[in-house]
Amino acid sequence: MGGGPAGLYSAILLKQALPRARIEVHERNKPDDTFGWGVVFSDQTMAGFAAADAPSHAAIVDSFYHWDDIDVHIHGAAIRTGGHGFAGIERKRLLNILQERAASLGVEQTFQHEIRDEAEFADADLLIAADGVNSRVRQQYAPAFEPSVDVRKCRFIWLGTTQRFPAFTFAFEKTEHGWFQIHAYQFSTELSTVIVETREETWRAHGLDRATTDESIEFAERLFGKYLGGARLMSNARHLRGSAWLNFNRVLCRRWFTRNIVLIGDAAHTAHFSIGSGTKLAMEDAIALSREISRGGDVGDALHRYQEERELEALKLQSAARNRMEWFENVARYTDLEPLQFTYSLLTGSQRIGHDNLKLRDAGFVGDVERRLAQRCGVADGKCPPMFLPFKLRDLELVNRVVVSPMAQYSAVDGMPNDWHLVHYGARATGGAGLVFTEMTCVSPHGRISPGCTGLWNEAQRDAWRRIVGFVHEHSDAKICLQLGHSGRKGSTQLGWERADYPLESDNWPIISASPLPYIDGVSQVPKQASEEDIAAITAEFVLAARLGLQAGFDMIELHMAHGYLLASFLSPLTNQRTDRYGGSIENRVRFPAEVIQAVRAIMPAGMPLSVRISASDWAQGGLSDDDLIATARALHEAGADVLDVSTGQTVPWQKPVYGRMYQTPFSDFIRNTLNVPTIAVGNIYEPDHVNSIVASGRADLCAVARPHLANPNWTLQAAAQLQHSGQWWPQQYLSGKSQLERNLQRAALIAGAV
Ligand SMILES: Cc1cc2nc3c(=O)[nH]c(=O)nc-3n(C[C@H](O)[C@H](O)[C@H](O)COP(=O)(O)OP(=O)(O)OC[C@H]3O[C@@H](n4cnc5c(N)ncnc54)[C@H](O)[C@@H]3O)c2cc1C
Ligand SMILES: Cc1cc2nc3c(=O)[nH]c(=O)nc-3n(C[C@H](O)[C@H](O)[C@H](O)COP(=O)(O)O)c2cc1C
Repeated sequence: MGGGPAGLYSAILLKQALPRARIEVHERNKPDDTFGWGVVFSDQTMAGFAAADAPSHAAIVDSFYHWDDIDVHIHGAAIRTGGHGFAGIERKRLLNILQERAASLGVEQTFQHEIRDEAEFADADLLIAADGVNSRVRQQYAPAFEPSVDVRKCRFIWLGTTQRFPAFTFAFEKTEHGWFQIHAYQFSTELSTVIVETREETWRAHGLDRATTDESIEFAERLFGKYLGGARLMSNARHLRGSAWLNFNRVLCRRWFTRNIVLIGDAAHTAHFSIGSGTKLAMEDAIALSREISRGGDVGDALHRYQEERELEALKLQSAARNRMEWFENVARYTDLEPLQFTYSLLTGSQRIGHDNLKLRDAGFVGDVERRLAQRCGVADGKCPPMFLPFKLRDLELVNRVVVSPMAQYSAVDGMPNDWHLVHYGARATGGAGLVFTEMTCVSPHGRISPGCTGLWNEAQRDAWRRIVGFVHEHSDAKICLQLGHSGRKGSTQLGWERADYPLESDNWPIISASPLPYIDGVSQVPKQASEEDIAAITAEFVLAARLGLQAGFDMIELHMAHGYLLASFLSPLTNQRTDRYGGSIENRVRFPAEVIQAVRAIMPAGMPLSVRISASDWAQGGLSDDDLIATARALHEAGADVLDVSTGQTVPWQKPVYGRMYQTPFSDFIRNTLNVPTIAVGNIYEPDHVNSIVASGRADLCAVARPHLANPNWTLQAAAQLQHSGQWWPQQYLSGKSQLERNLQRAALIAGAV
């Protein structure tokens, strides 16, 4: 059902594998009707098609139009980058190739046949629902397929033109109501496609919701005329009902088959057009489906294996597509970046292409970006990987962008740091990071997470910290930041390597939170709801701890307002159900955290920066919304936070985080580029390439790296050697290790190159 790429290709492959089977394709349109223009494929995708069906592969390759460059136009500047390697084909041509190949194999094709009820195929062994993004079959059997459809924030219209774009072209134009962009590329010797995209509210403000297709085209020609060289824009979607402007629907189904009916292609899942993978996914589905069916055996088992294989692939692509789709949805966040950095941000927007990959594609462009960033940071010779650029916050100067993220060691007794802490922090400081954070250091005995947490409520603890800070200052170029926190409802729990978050087996102390809600129902203690007196007393404890920290010589202070601890419990609506002036609206929920910031800031020297760590998402229904997040970040910044350290989650145990590399960085990007506030990104940043691309794209100013520093305290020194960056400070005691490492890495690179 449906004669798009998924339907036709699965028919071809099945007919090839099962020549005696009768295979029919029913399509509501005529063979030459198509709502689209061009389709893009990568070399890797094409290799899979060659193996699946050589004749159609050869015909597709014959019709390809190749190009290598991407042009980005913004604020009158044009930035060209090369080495991207795309191939495009006209959608109509692709469908005609598949139709011809299907006919030659004996597939029966019926056009202009709209299927309203699949009962007409009651005798079929298998019904393949390849009926596209608005699949009727998927809707009809929704209880079985359990689809989730996310209607996105932008509107787009898919147009064609005779203008021959020399490169894949992105152009951005601002109107009185907001930004519009085009994604344009040539897919044949005569034709190019132009997708015009804008936010829903901008589209409405221009009256485009009421415009005809012709009026929409006139509007787009006026706005983007300078890129069209006098050519007109055209639509081939006039036969579609309703507006030619579409919303992208992100579709995913829990089950892809029921009885003998199976979903394939856009009917089962979609991938945003900005990563151009919908047709690829549809055709690769067809390869997997035909392979499993042609193995014989039970159809249900075959469909089960098909879903298992393809669902994972679709999820991976959707996750990469999400970042890029959100980049385009929120273009206004980035338009204040210089055109060079804007382009870098666009090209790395999916977080799949990083600094190294971009350098392979276009070393000249990456060199320009590095030089410009170095110039802005006052680095004279301009040759500096972004992760090794210096950074200044108030008067604090950091030698690079790597931060050792706070990590509880659970090794203190009565809050006292000891020799473990001296060696642990000392080793990380001599390991090359620009800034080392202490673990969450608690402001009172009852504010500890576990009996092993460090604290700072007395002079003995201050003196023990002073010894560690003294070592860091005397023996490294690193600065050291004190993270202060109060455990709240997650206090009085077991050590990290025991049953973390579970109450102590004995000797529990009373705990306190914004509201009397236990962390784990039926397991955790019920916390006391903090009274106004408690709030004032705890604020004073934070001030005392900060004062002791200043006496110990720390360079910076961070207040821990993330991960469900006391201050975080006020920020999240999931944990704050108060009805007084500390609960309810975001202004009220932020009041106590802001009071603590103001009180601590008031005793800090003017030149010393203050950081605040937040959980930017609770990963749970009813948690912090995007609007809440921005209001919170703004309020915390206004209260005196110089930098926001953007983590997520751990607010409630039923959270459902979406993990992946750099998975929290989009939240840092959101805050930094919406509010123009410095940020620290954290979470699964484990390669120097990640740090380089985050800093260069402006998604964060600093990158906090936690677990990799547990495995390797010299993570930064190692990265400097790998990147052949000579400007990184090394302890002089270790210089002979440095030169050997550099030699060995260079030799390994030469051998790898030769192989
Ligand atoms: C603006 C835009 C740009 C895109 N750019 C790219 C790109 O560059 N590269 C890429 O790979 N993908 C791109 N895609 C995605 C791509 O078009 C789809 O992912 C791909 O076509 C999916 O193939 P399909 O066969 O599953 O669905 P479709 O191509 O949508 O085919 C479904 C077919 O089913 C038919 N049909 C539906 N209902 C019935 C019915 N009841 N009876 C009979 N027939 C029916 C329809 O007429 C249609 O022909 C883009 C999509 C959009 C919207
Ligand atoms: C053992 C361990 C202890 C941690 N303790 C703290 C802490 O005390 N304070 C804090 O803010 N985050 C703490 N975290 C979270 C890390 O700082 C960091 O946000 C998280 O591990 C994600 O970064 P990564 O992927 O680089 O590990 C801890 C993480 C680990 C692994």
